[in-house]
Amino acid sequence: MAELDNTKDANDYGIGIPVKQHPFFLKGLEHAEWGMKDRLSRIFNPLSGNTVMLAFDHGYIMGPTSGLERMDLTITPLIEYADCIMCTRGALRSIVPPTSNKPVSLRYSAGTTVLTELNDECLLDIEDAIRVNASALAIMVAIGSEFEAVTIKNLVRTADMGAKYGIPTLGVTAVGKDLVRDSRYLGLASRICAENGATFVKTYFCETGFEQVVAACPVPIVIAGGKKLPENEALEFAYQAIQQGAAGVDMGRNVFQSEHPIAMIQAVRAVVHDKRTPKDALDLYNTLKHQK
Ligand code: R5P
Repeated sequence: MAELDNTKDANDYGIGIPVKQHPFFLKGLEHAEWGMKDRLSRIFNPLSGNTVMLAFDHGYIMGPTSGLERMDLTITPLIEYADCIMCTRGALRSIVPPTSNKPVSLRYSAGTTVLTELNDECLLDIEDAIRVNASALAIMVAIGSEFEAVTIKNLVRTADMGAKYGIPTLGVTAVGKDLVRDSRYLGLASRICAENGATFVKTYFCETGFEQVVAACPVPIVIAGGKKLPENEALEFAYQAIQQGAAGVDMGRNVFQSEHPIAMIQAVRAVVHDKRTPKDALDLYNTLKHQK
């Protein structure tokens, strides 16, 4: 207990000075709880408002994907360049040094794999998410698929659990074999995620109508990268997505399957955080790829 004798009287009350307000920088999240905002401010850079998330959770349904055979060799060196990592708890515990101190978007649903029908998923235990200090809980939501209801229930339960502990929920819109990645579908799926409690949404970029997809989603959208493309094309669509309102990328294969992944993730950062053009970012990639 503090000493009671000879203490300095409190007299600096700042009378007349209004209390400074701190509006929150992410769309639709002004009324989120403090812990949730703290975690979101670790995932998204408050200066640019955007994030570069590095996704390497593919193995949970696809097994040893190209580029992820030895995650300790390919992913661990990339972590320092990401704002947030998106992975399973298995990968986290195996190859992510806790000293990297990066916010984790934890893959929080699991179930069927590429060998059967995808998306029949269950949830992990919230205690394990807390144990690994998850900054977000990532849930697959398969609108229009056979398992649509299962995945929406998973999203709802996760958003409830996340709200209880101040952990944001990332609704990941799945794209099945028979679903088209057009603005109508992506807009529907993203909006359904947000309406059911997703704190932010991960979806795909589409050439036409992406601006409307973003506008109609009341919370931030980050885009997945999708299949590996030539570096200039990946930088171009990342640029277009940011210009049209995306709050960042959650990119996997276009980074870790690049011939020069460390150069590529830095080029993506230039587009996402510094609003550099795809040409500038490609020049940066070509410069950095020669560096050891
Ligand atoms: C998809 O199910 C996984 O969650 C990936 O995290 C996501 O697809 C992003 O990775 P990529 O950029 O390789 O599409």
